Amino acid sequence: MEIKKYTFLPHGDERGQLVVVEENKDIPFDVKRVYYIYDTLADVTRGFHAHKCLEQVLICVHGSCKIHLDNGFETEEVLLDKPYEGLYISNDMWREMYDFSSDAVLLVLASQYYDEADYIRNYDEFLKFVRSKNS
Ligand code: TYD
Repeated sequence: MEIKKYTFLPHGDERGQLVVVEENKDIPFDVKRVYYIYDTLADVTRGFHAHKCLEQVLICVHGSCKIHLDNGFETEEVLLDKPYEGLYISNDMWREMYDFSSDAVLLVLASQYYDEADYIRNYDEFLKFVRSKNS
């Protein structure tokens, strides 16, 4: 599976680091929504869904976590532990987030407003969705 990761160039100087992400320049969509996840307990796995349309970029701006990706054919585990690295996740990707360090802050840039109707939360429904598109 091809993993699409972005490395954002930090503007570092003697004061520290600053990372910029601009819509349609550094990432391939308009950012309609930003949310972040923190204080996640060590044994927690979140996500367990795909989307009909939504695209996202995940940035672990502090600490680390792992992302399980599943395109219906293959799976991959991705470590996010750099505040200047973004993981692109297309709509048709089942995702689970786990192994959060206690200090992890996972920032998510999303291409659409929150819409529960865009979620595919049933794994069998997800398989039907991706396999119908790829057959
Ligand atoms: P949930 O979908 O369980 O998060 P995750 O996929 O990371 O496990 O979302 C947790 C709660 O937050 C749920 O009640 C829906 C709400 N929520 C919003 O209201 N807006 C949002 O943009 C998101 C991502 C979640």
